Amino acid sequence: MTKTALITGAASGLGYELALLLANDDYNLILIDIDNTNLQVAKTEIEKLFSCSVSIVFKDLSKPNVAIEIMEEINNIPIDVLVNNAGFGLFGTFANTEWERELDMLHVHILTTTHLTKLVLEGMLKRGSGKILNMSSLAAFQPGPLMSIYYASKSYLLSFSEAIANELKGTGITVTALCPGPTKTSFQKVVSNNTSKNKISFNMACPSAVALYGYNAMQKGKIVAIPGAINKCLSTVHRFVSRKMVTQIVRNLQEKNREL
Ligand SMILES: NC(=O)c1ccc[n+]([C@@H]2O[C@H](COP(=O)([O-])OP(=O)(O)OC[C@H]3O[C@@H](n4cnc5c(N)ncnc54)[C@H](OP(=O)(O)O)[C@@H]3O)[C@@H](O)[C@H]2O)c1
Repeated sequence: MTKTALITGAASGLGYELALLLANDDYNLILIDIDNTNLQVAKTEIEKLFSCSVSIVFKDLSKPNVAIEIMEEINNIPIDVLVNNAGFGLFGTFANTEWERELDMLHVHILTTTHLTKLVLEGMLKRGSGKILNMSSLAAFQPGPLMSIYYASKSYLLSFSEAIANELKGTGITVTALCPGPTKTSFQKVVSNNTSKNKISFNMACPSAVALYGYNAMQKGKIVAIPGAINKCLSTVHRFVSRKMVTQIVRNLQEKNREL
């Protein structure tokens, strides 16, 4: 029987790459994004390449109760794979960043992801199978001055994923937190306000490789997936130096690479 995958933030970047991998494995797709133009393009491209069915749902995931709206719009169709991928970054000191944008981020990264997971999990538990991939980040492993809410929200996603993965042991449902380092998508341009000071080119990964790594980890039921040897090392730095020091290192890197 054909399986269905729901992917948020699927119009571009890592979400789009994950959609391609799922289509290649014969999943029918439900693609969700706020970018309606790119969503239509993604649907057309995937339908050209694969024979799966592709539905698109144009939604702003920062709105309250949007997870309920999504489930109603898709008629509570059974979801075999849930990819909570949508997200964005915001750079600046917390005292000066725009609250509306931060509220949107907290909704997209935390509230909507958590709610959608709860709603989709209900059906997965009844069927005794399912896979959930939550897009965390290397940012999850330490505090992130100048991107404080982004780093904290990605820590939430890592912690939440590990906790429910443990609770779901033996149910047939697995939860994977994918924790990429810097990846060449429009995310990097947006977070750097399109300024010329976006110098992060060292250790910049290709989105298709990151998606493939995450996809394989999800299929194997791995709980935490960190693509790249350098990123794996970086994710352990907090074990060897004090949290105060690791926080300062992140600040120095952010200041060096982005414009305040
Ligand atoms: N790229 C990196 O370096 C990196 C590293 C670690 C983790 N990540 C995570 O990877 C995920 C995917 O990002 P990406 O790098 O692939 O960037 P991307 O190309 O910008 O993709 C993110 C997608 O999510 C959509 N989105 C943003 N806000 C939304 C909302 N309120 N409702 C619905 N859709 C929304 C974006 O639409 P718009 O373009 O219209 O905003 C975009 O299509 C994010 O969660 C990000 O935090 C990225």
